[in-house]
Amino acid sequence: MRGVLVRASAAPFVVVGGLAAGAAAAALGQKRAECSASFTTTVYMPTTVYVTASEPPALSNSAPGTSSGVVATSTSTSGDAVPSTPLSATSSSAGPSTGVSPSDSGTASFTVSLSTSTSAVEEPTSTQVPTSEPISSSVTSDIISSSVTSGAPGAPTVKPPGPPSPPPIFRGYKNAIYFTNWGTSGNSSYLPQELPVSELTHILYAFADIDANGTVKSSDAFADVGKRYARDDPLNRTRGHHAYGAVKQLYLYKKRNRNLKTLLSVGGFDYSPKFVPVAADPGRRRTFADSAVRMMADYGFDGIDIDWEYPADADQAQHFVLLLQACREALDKFSFRHRLPYRFLLTVASPAGPVNSHKLDLAGMDPYVDIWNLMAYDYTGSWDNTTGHQSNLYRSPRHPSATKLSTDDAVQYYEGLGIRSSKILIGVPTYGRSFESTSGLGQAYAGVGTEGGGVLLYKTLPRPGARELWDDGAKASWSYNDATRELVSYDTPRSTLYKARYVRRKKLGGAFFWEATGDRAGAASLVSTMSKTLGWLDESPNHLWYPMSQYENIRWGMPGA
Ligand SMILES: *[C@@H]1O[C@H](CO)[C@@H](O)[C@H](O)[C@H]1NC(C)=O
Ligand SMILES: *[C@@H]1O[C@H](CO)[C@@H](O)[C@H](O)[C@H]1NC(C)=O
Ligand SMILES: *[C@@H]1O[C@H](CO)[C@@H](O)[C@H](O)[C@H]1NC(C)=O
Ligand SMILES: *[C@@H]1O[C@H](CO)[C@@H](O)[C@H](O)[C@H]1NC(C)=O
Repeated sequence: MRGVLVRASAAPFVVVGGLAAGAAAAALGQKRAECSASFTTTVYMPTTVYVTASEPPALSNSAPGTSSGVVATSTSTSGDAVPSTPLSATSSSAGPSTGVSPSDSGTASFTVSLSTSTSAVEEPTSTQVPTSEPISSSVTSDIISSSVTSGAPGAPTVKPPGPPSPPPIFRGYKNAIYFTNWGTSGNSSYLPQELPVSELTHILYAFADIDANGTVKSSDAFADVGKRYARDDPLNRTRGHHAYGAVKQLYLYKKRNRNLKTLLSVGGFDYSPKFVPVAADPGRRRTFADSAVRMMADYGFDGIDIDWEYPADADQAQHFVLLLQACREALDKFSFRHRLPYRFLLTVASPAGPVNSHKLDLAGMDPYVDIWNLMAYDYTGSWDNTTGHQSNLYRSPRHPSATKLSTDDAVQYYEGLGIRSSKILIGVPTYGRSFESTSGLGQAYAGVGTEGGGVLLYKTLPRPGARELWDDGAKASWSYNDATRELVSYDTPRSTLYKARYVRRKKLGGAFFWEATGDRAGAASLVSTMSKTLGWLDESPNHLWYPMSQYENIRWGMPGA
């Protein structure tokens, strides 16, 4: 893989300006930069780097070293500088600093500062050795220097950089949500404009489909990129190939909220059988990974989420590991080829119950996984022979048959395998599960109702005539109707509050919600209860620079929008 990277890198690097512009324009999300090829190259990268949205087109038209809006300061002897853009708060580097805020952001949550750090690209002479002294040690926590040996005898051979590491420091809790493309159509549609983005750090856009040959593809191209919303060129004056639909709205959110990341979620329950043959074959795994990355880049997303429910045996579990490895490699290769010093995320929606989680090779998967979206719900339902809590934090001694599983058990199982707590997000359902004709928790029941297999959206609960109740042992809420004898297990602000405190106490990564349409607004919102109780939301930057997208408006960063 590394050999491939070196070879692949040689050609595009000819354009030094491309690197400069790319590095400046990209959201420089972490502390490593790849550099190599036919120059001896030393690039200093600060730990935290940000850039604004609307810069790419302007910068890409500039000559190297004369990038508009960026003043290069360099202590190197050659003139070509790689502007990089540290967040001013974390940078003590000298140099001009220009406060730039996202262009049209009435709702922008913060202002990023574009300043140059001391970075240099040098033309090598045959005896030149990469400079190894950091210019400013306080901002340069990680230095990558690499050089390419071909045609440069005497130059030191340094391994090309491997995958960039995720930020090791705490940067706030994650509050993520699944947003479905099928939810945007139909009578009770939930539009992307309704997403409570100020409370969110990640939006998982569900679900992409999978071809038999492994190709990841849209499950609904109209919802993704076709549907016209207000201001989406109503008079059809725009020529060319543009993304509309949810994809455009998500990109606009990212421009206005530079801490909001979007992920392409592939699979889901319905498409999951398609994983089996694809993951089993090396060629199809590669096709899967490459096409998923392609689609992520086309859509202007920050990562890929894999939702395979569920690998059924040890062989499939190993195939899952290999599939994740292929995806991680494809993401890193993509960053490298396009000179994007950004770590695109790879996340997994993973099971909480032992029946499915114990089949997985979680420790084997972990090196490739940035975030575990622990599906801490559906603990009980129509498949069970008693009623119970579907998403309880703890098992309850008072109601053992209503709490056969618990989120705490699942988290402990993951942690016990060596998975870092900070990579785990616990799932919170925005729906309830209904049981009919029952006398209470842990009791027998008859039927779950005709509506969607007993699944009811939180915003419709409690149903008329039902009392909302609290199980303090399990830290779970539920409702019961004495007249109809219906029991519904569902999360409320109160249970969400306990989950948020649990996340904080256990130093987990955060929480996520399945899915956006079920929540309420205002004080009754579960998403908002979570974000407010977590108190500090993830500040890692998103990425906006997709010059390789097939959609022209994403390629150009949605100028004017
Ligand atoms: C949507 O609403 C229309 C009019 O109220 C109704 O005729 C149609 O059946 C509804 N469609 C769905 C899928 O519920
Ligand atoms: C996979 O199959 C689809 C259609 O089923 C086709 O369009 C695509 O080109 C194929 N991809 C590869 C890599 O074979
Ligand atoms: C613009 O194009 C869309 C999609 O082709 C079409 O539905 C719409 O009617 C067109 N609008 C105008 C004003 O021509
Ligand atoms: C439910 O099934 C389990 C075994 O699967 C059994 O032990 C238990 O008694 C059953 N409970 C009821 C209420 O039928």
